[in-house]
Amino acid sequence: MTIKSISQVRNLKGQRVLLRADFNVPLTKNGQVGNSEDFRIVRTAPTIKYLTGKGAKVIIMAHLGRPEGKVNPKLSLKPVAKRLSQVIKQSVKLSPEIIGSKTDKLVSQMKNGEVLLLENIRFDAREEKADKGFAKQLAKLADIYVNDGFAVSHRDQASVSTIQQFLPSYAGLLLEAEIKYLGGALKNPKKPLVVIIGGAKISTKMKVIKNFTKVAKRILLGGALANTVLKVMGLSVGKSAIEPEMFAEVKKFKLTDNQIVVPVDGLMAIKTEAKKGRTDALADVRKDELILDIGPDTVKLYESILKSAKMVMWNGPMGLIENPAFAGGTKKLIKILAESKAQTIVGGGETVQMIRKMKLENKFSFISTGGGAMLEFLEGKKLPGLKKIVK
Ligand code: 3PG
Repeated sequence: MTIKSISQVRNLKGQRVLLRADFNVPLTKNGQVGNSEDFRIVRTAPTIKYLTGKGAKVIIMAHLGRPEGKVNPKLSLKPVAKRLSQVIKQSVKLSPEIIGSKTDKLVSQMKNGEVLLLENIRFDAREEKADKGFAKQLAKLADIYVNDGFAVSHRDQASVSTIQQFLPSYAGLLLEAEIKYLGGALKNPKKPLVVIIGGAKISTKMKVIKNFTKVAKRILLGGALANTVLKVMGLSVGKSAIEPEMFAEVKKFKLTDNQIVVPVDGLMAIKTEAKKGRTDALADVRKDELILDIGPDTVKLYESILKSAKMVMWNGPMGLIENPAFAGGTKKLIKILAESKAQTIVGGGETVQMIRKMKLENKFSFISTGGGAMLEFLEGKKLPGLKKIVK
């Protein structure tokens, strides 16, 4: 695998670089980027600093939410510009439009090392249509294109993929690291590799699980998605949500050879808003109960398996972590991995947010910024935003 990296470009001084970033971050009630929510902005900062440090003029394209091709002031990148400027400790101008005379003027006034952010790229309906004319107009703003938005690279959109037809295109430093770590786990893992997959629905993770059955020693399941597997194994899961349409797929797994490991106990409650749960073996889940977290015996079992791993890849929480009563299992796994000597790679919005809240992000080898993009990459798909950059 070779990556066309921005670090290979010799003379960036005075070059206009059009950078696609993923700044799709949640906003607080008063429309600001919260301190624990700025992960994607923080992680793109090294690429921006690298470019400005080399004297490039950095023009950034990004989206926020799904405005569906219409201008929506609530989804303006204003708060993102403010936060980005705090993070990179440099002024960031926000153009009030994407393309047009105002943007042209702002670009023509840029000095070397300056940063300009264009307004939400999804305010223009042509973005999500991967429109060639729109991509061409964007390309006219710059000399070079850099994709650092790994988290949006699974979208075939004008500023992500189409634009690469019109400008020399490179990977930013974050994108390069994402491919190196996630691609490494998939293609050339340190062995034994242990994979942990949690989250709500097995249907969204099925292809990832299948792909890892080829390289992982063990695949540990948790979260509501494990319920569908438990059901197939003949256990009662009470009232827990399951996906019967996935039974046939799950049955194809060799559930008896220990490669795929399911929880042995759980934390149960009658409703998701419960203040606490009841710990019991999964053989004893009551009819009216929901399984909302993994239990202490499962944590112990997973800890003992993780001890022998040289590499761990984790995506998705072990329980309903938005309710603190059911976040315990995920928190314990975070602590176990933070102390592990294995190479640890983790992704998925909720788990990452919890790791940041616990201030343990520096204890992981790599934390992915990708949500859907991480999953599609791990399914082995060629992402549209990488096609011309990764060979
Ligand atoms: C994400 O947040 O996963 C990316 O920014 C992609 O957003 P989308 O699902 O709205 O395309």
